[in-house]
Parts: sequence; structure tokens; C-alpha cells
Amino acid sequence: MKRPRKPPLIAPSLLSADPLRIREGIDSLCGEYDWLHLDIMDGHFVPNLSYGPSLLKSLRDALPEAVLDVHLMVEPPENFIASFLQWKPDFLVVHQEATPHLHRVLQAIREGGSRPGVALNPGTAVETVKPVLPFVDLVLVMSVNPGFGGQAFIPEVLSKTRALCQWREAGKLEFLVEMDGGLGASNVAEVVRGGCDVVVAGNAIFGEADPASAARLLRKKAREANSGE
Ligand code: DX5
Ligand code: ZN
Repeated sequence: MKRPRKPPLIAPSLLSADPLRIREGIDSLCGEYDWLHLDIMDGHFVPNLSYGPSLLKSLRDALPEAVLDVHLMVEPPENFIASFLQWKPDFLVVHQEATPHLHRVLQAIREGGSRPGVALNPGTAVETVKPVLPFVDLVLVMSVNPGFGGQAFIPEVLSKTRALCQWREAGKLEFLVEMDGGLGASNVAEVVRGGCDVVVAGNAIFGEADPASAARLLRKKAREANSGE
């Protein structure tokens, strides 16, 4: 399995790319990204619809070396993971709120050959994922309510990343902490200093005239914040 690289990492969210020109959108980044973030929405767990597994297949075929981070906003995730696992996402992330069988789903993702991740909504207490931390490679802290790009960042969720970092250290665990929603040049330093290893950004990258420059700036600010500059 590919190494996911060292944090802090930038993961552009393809939800904000032009859906008719997703490949051109990725090419417009000129390689200024670490992972690609793919949002799967079912119109039930979240009030919006997006893509299905066929887009993951096309991305995997076109970009065999890319680290593909698939964020499942579907309920129940156990009904859908097999159709995504067959196309070998590097990370497959399910929501804590979407299933009563969280541990079982995470285990099935690992057995299926991908790295399991758990996501939590802004209104969900971080303590609810504590029992599964030894079983995940990623915790995705939502900093907007999931369903749409371009929403305003909810800064209060940073208390969750700090708790996760403390629990990771105390338990000698190795999961990465990812944040998703409303992130951009104005707050990337704050979230990295708050313990975030992976920064997802949609609008702040694909909403700009020069997505490569926007992504480069985010990477630079994230690295500076990480090294205490
Ligand atoms: C929201 C998605 C996000 C979204 C982020 O439900 O999970 O990944 O694309 O978009 P921005 O960065 O524009 O908030
Ligand atoms: Zn997402």
C-alpha cells in the first residue's frame, strides 16, 4: 500500500471542480496536492447528491499513484463499502452517525484492503469515536455540516482535534487527523496548529482562477504553521 506522505497534507476536494472537467481540474493543480478528496453523498444522510463508485474507478484508472481519500456521506455505509473497495481507495471514511455498527464497518474496510477512517459531524461529540481510535488510520473532523462546498468554517470544532491529538499520544496510536469544510488561506495555519494533519479544501482551491497557486499557498502556510514559523 502507498505511504500517505508526511503531514501536514493538502487534499483538494473534487466536489468544487467543474463536474464536466474533473480531469482538467486535477491537471490544473500542477501536482500541488498530496491527496485527492472525493465526496460521496446519498441525498439521505446529507441533503445533497454527488457521485458514485464509477468516478472512483475512473480516477483510480487514470491516476494509479494518487492517494484517493473517499469520504462516504451515505447511510448505512455497510451497504456501499464493497462497491467502493473494489476500486482500491487508499482511505475509505465512514460517518460515526451513519451506522450503529461502526467497528464492524471499519474492520470490513481494512479487510477489504483500504485504510479505514471515521468522520464526525460538527454536532457530534468527539468522545463518540474514542472506542474506535485503535482501529482507524484517519479521523475526519467536519468543520461544516456535510453536504455542500463553500460553507463557513465552524472554529469550535478545533477542540476536537486537540482532544484527538492528546488521546493519540496517550494511547501510542497512529491515526491522522483530517479537517474538512470552510478551510482556506485565512485559517489553514490555525487548524494545523490545532493538530490537523490533513487539510481538505474545495472552494478555496477550485474556486480560484489559478488553482495551482491557491494549493501551493495552502501547502506553504500549512508547513510554516507546522514548523512553528
Ligand atoms: C462537504 C464536503 C467537503 C467540501 C468542502 O460535505 O465533505 O469535502 O467539498 O468544500 P469547501 O472546502 O468548499 O468547504
Ligand atoms: Zn469531504
